[in-house]
Amino acid sequence: MQKIIILDFGSQTTQLIGRRVRELDTFCEILPYNKFPQDDPDVIGVILSGSPFSVYDPEAFKIDLSQIQGRYPILGICYGAQFMSHTLGGRVEPAPSREYGRQHLTTIDVDNPLFKGFDLGSQVWMSHGDTITAIPDGFQCIASTESVKYAAYYCPGSLWGVQFHPEVFHSVQGSLLLKNFVVNICGSKQEWSAASFVDTTVAELKAQLGNDRVILGLSGGVDSSVAAVLISRAIGDRLTCIFVDHGMLRKNEFTQVMEDYKCLGLNVIGVDASEKFFADLAGVTEPEQKRKIIGRDFIEVFNAEAKKITDARWLGQGTIYPDRIESLNITGKVIKSHHNVGGLPKEMHLQLCEPLKWLFKDEVRRVGRQLGMPEHLITRHPFPGPGLAVRILGDITPEKVQILQDADDIFIRGLREYVCEDGETLYNKVWQAGAILLSTVRSVGVMGDERTYEHPVALRAVTSTDAMTADWAHLPYDFMARVSTDIINHVRGVNRVCYDISSKPPATIEWE
Ligand code: XMP
Repeated sequence: MQKIIILDFGSQTTQLIGRRVRELDTFCEILPYNKFPQDDPDVIGVILSGSPFSVYDPEAFKIDLSQIQGRYPILGICYGAQFMSHTLGGRVEPAPSREYGRQHLTTIDVDNPLFKGFDLGSQVWMSHGDTITAIPDGFQCIASTESVKYAAYYCPGSLWGVQFHPEVFHSVQGSLLLKNFVVNICGSKQEWSAASFVDTTVAELKAQLGNDRVILGLSGGVDSSVAAVLISRAIGDRLTCIFVDHGMLRKNEFTQVMEDYKCLGLNVIGVDASEKFFADLAGVTEPEQKRKIIGRDFIEVFNAEAKKITDARWLGQGTIYPDRIESLNITGKVIKSHHNVGGLPKEMHLQLCEPLKWLFKDEVRRVGRQLGMPEHLITRHPFPGPGLAVRILGDITPEKVQILQDADDIFIRGLREYVCEDGETLYNKVWQAGAILLSTVRSVGVMGDERTYEHPVALRAVTSTDAMTADWAHLPYDFMARVSTDIINHVRGVNRVCYDISSKPPATIEWE
């Protein structure tokens, strides 16, 4: 299948470029800047991403352009454009002031195929400290803004550079620019779609798995559920799913999700291991230690179940593309250890089967719809593997979990029921939401004539595209007022509700 290669120079928006290309029904791979696949006959074009570095930084990422130049059409974005210009004889200098934010294209060469269909004055998004002050001989300037002369350039034949970010929402005709590049210039036949993905993947799974048996750990989330349905389309009951209840899921979630899975025709074993998890977590307050215990117990319980399926040859997983992209982590620091489903029981010698490994989250959802899965499963918010354990400050007890489940349930049901003016529910407008029990804090309140001295609950709702960065959701006041009253009136042990208005960074989405 045809593909575009996106070389990652460490920009925050590289994944977004990938998603935009996929939205054009075109397959793409994001690779570290120095890992260009030399002998891949399916490559039809190359995009060079932005970067946190300046071309003059000694540690800046550099490539040998001669390996790709002239072989494929190349589009450089921001640093990618500056790097090509700088390398091929142009001049890049620090901008007098950082060029950041919305700008408008005041001149555009609409005869250039990159700008076909563009409107004069089109808004673009800039974000760079350096700027191109001269382009190499033979290059042409094809767009400018009031303050950026070389907003875009062209080297006849094969190179295009744009100093703005077409992949971000604020570049209003950015998708058109990418379409011009991917479809018109590179010649994509736009063959990548949810329907074609399902057909080819089911056929490949049939061939790959033959008569073998597969085990898969379900989490209730979108990815593992879609992976399970895909695999079961290929091999039916030879897929056995395991769903572990660690006792810290949302209210009634275990029962509801088990019912959903049965309706989907999946062969699922539900394991209630909550007693073990609560026993092992008793008295533990340190967030990383809680995460480690849950991760360890999870693997233990999962493996004990998996070993009962003695003839299994494969472990199915809902790994998606962003989990695998070898992104250039410039700082290299671990903030939280994330725990996910499973770990291979080594003595079982299982091979990995990851049918979603090339998909972005929105594509997983499209595939889920294509497979006829119910909308509430497909649009379910992400939920952390350790569950409510990372939303209870201090030690975990079943009583605290129940208090939090009740508060969380009121909040989440409220989000699902609140329909905004555009017809969309608040639930679908936010990336993720939940309640946090501040059980290490108490405050005084009054209920009836009684003094109360109880715990606050914090509510958190964020908007995001990939959880790498997030903003707090600006929920309507009437909604927040109602949820607050409902929680305080109905959840025993809670006498105060706060709303978390921190963005990520500097905060994270989960409190622990
Ligand atoms: P943070 O809190 O790091 O979370 O901003 C980013 C996203 O990851 C989810 N999260 C987890 N997911 N296992 C998971 O599968 C985990 O241990 C875990 N911790 C955080 C979090 O809910 C958010 O969507």
